Amino acid sequence: MIKLISVLIFIFSVLIFGACSRKITPTKTTVEAKENSDKNYTVVLSSRYGKETYEAKCGNCHNLNKPSNYTFTEWNPIMDRMAKKADLDYLQKQNVLGYLKDNAKAEK
Ligand code: HEC
Repeated sequence: MIKLISVLIFIFSVLIFGACSRKITPTKTTVEAKENSDKNYTVVLSSRYGKETYEAKCGNCHNLNKPSNYTFTEWNPIMDRMAKKADLDYLQKQNVLGYLKDNAKAEK
């Protein structure tokens, strides 16, 4: 029980810290809590999460666009429209933006 509580506190502090540091630049790091067979919780920090989400959600209606097709400035309004279409939650959208930011075309 103590272990579970400390893991939950850890997750919350990561989330709170994340929320403060994430106001301007989207980050590609997220927290997933997974229940394993022992009913303990493992925290998985995955920098690939944005890419995974992008590849899983953004190629369903049309071909997957290359992140380098657009600059990050161009991606922002596109993502505002497409995140709704792809039904992304806040974290998923931030993670995809982080992935796109790292791989977008250079700004003109
Ligand atoms: C429910 C279907 C659907 C999903 C899911 C979807 N798109 Fe689209 N997307 C469209 C349609 C329809 C268009 C073209 C018409 C429009 O712009 O609304 C489009 C157009 C685009 C374009 C072309 C540029 C532009 O301004 O129109 C890009 C880039 C794009 N989508 C990226 C994405 C990304 C990134 C995701 C994942 C977050 C995504 N799409 C998920 C339906 C979808």
